[in-house]
Amino acid sequence: MMELPALELNTGRLIPQIGFGTARLPDEEVRVLVRDALALGYTAIDTAASYDNEIGVGQGLADSGLRREDLYVTTKLRGADQGSASVKHALRQSLDRLGLEYVDLYLIHWPLPRLDRYVESWIAMTELVDEGLVRDIGVSNFTPEYLDRLAAESDTVPAVNQIELHPKFPQQAQREDDSERGIVTESWSPLGQDGSLFTDPTVLSIADRYRKTAAQVLIRWHLDQGLVVIPKASSPARIAQNLDVLDFALDEQDLAAMARLDTGQRVNGQHPAEYEEF
Ligand SMILES: NC(=O)c1ccc[n+]([C@@H]2O[C@H](COP(=O)([O-])OP(=O)(O)OC[C@H]3O[C@@H](n4cnc5c(N)ncnc54)[C@H](OP(=O)(O)O)[C@@H]3O)[C@@H](O)[C@H]2O)c1
Repeated sequence: MMELPALELNTGRLIPQIGFGTARLPDEEVRVLVRDALALGYTAIDTAASYDNEIGVGQGLADSGLRREDLYVTTKLRGADQGSASVKHALRQSLDRLGLEYVDLYLIHWPLPRLDRYVESWIAMTELVDEGLVRDIGVSNFTPEYLDRLAAESDTVPAVNQIELHPKFPQQAQREDDSERGIVTESWSPLGQDGSLFTDPTVLSIADRYRKTAAQVLIRWHLDQGLVVIPKASSPARIAQNLDVLDFALDEQDLAAMARLDTGQRVNGQHPAEYEEF
């Protein structure tokens, strides 16, 4: 089995730098794709309670026959379950659906500032670590404002901040802020989700030079900047292609050219301060 690159978290544990994202994949489909991804050499799977596919993800993990210690599973606390009274129950339900005794990483999915329960949720999540139900905890879609509040009210620094991040929305300021706090940044929608980066002339000309695909160049762009990347794909061929990125690296010129793709616009469209879906 090939050795995947990993990053060290502020707890000393490692996170695989590349994983398989499972958003928008229903149970039956995700079961097969998770099994395929693990057979192809992935070890990390990203899911969430709100994806409604933890059962299928868990079946795929079980089908793989891999040992639990060789897997890295991330799931996320949905908005409806935020709050000190509900976090532990929500995690136990996720674990039941996944068929696991612990997850490697548990994230607050969105801050939901109007609900204003992310600080108490965070404190409840620190207790889950003590109980061995979770190895590491982190956040998703957090801006400096929300990270400041966690820092003011808890001694535990999130291990990870999973945010929308791709060449069109590279989030330089948030990455620097995460890094100063000792937080690893993980890129969601790393391929830009809407497909437009696959036909971008800059990406295609770099891909041509390395005899790689646009998707592979995009994944390399994350790896070469010390980000964790979790591309989603719906076919074994694409899942395999997205992992076949360990035999080349982008140089300074490539990165400079791709820096010009920044549009300052989110694909998702919603700023974390505005996002209110539960
Ligand atoms: N924390 C959060 O709030 C949050 C939000 C969004 C996403 N996420 C996580 O991030 C993961 C990835 O984000 P995403 O699913 O939004 O988007 P993405 O990974 O940026 O892009 C997925 C799209 O790229 C296509 N694709 C993948 N590999 C390809 C290849 N080699 N060649 C051509 N097309 C390819 C997929 O097509 P097919 O599927 O048709 O193969 C799909 O349409 C999610 O699955 C989820 O785990 C987290």
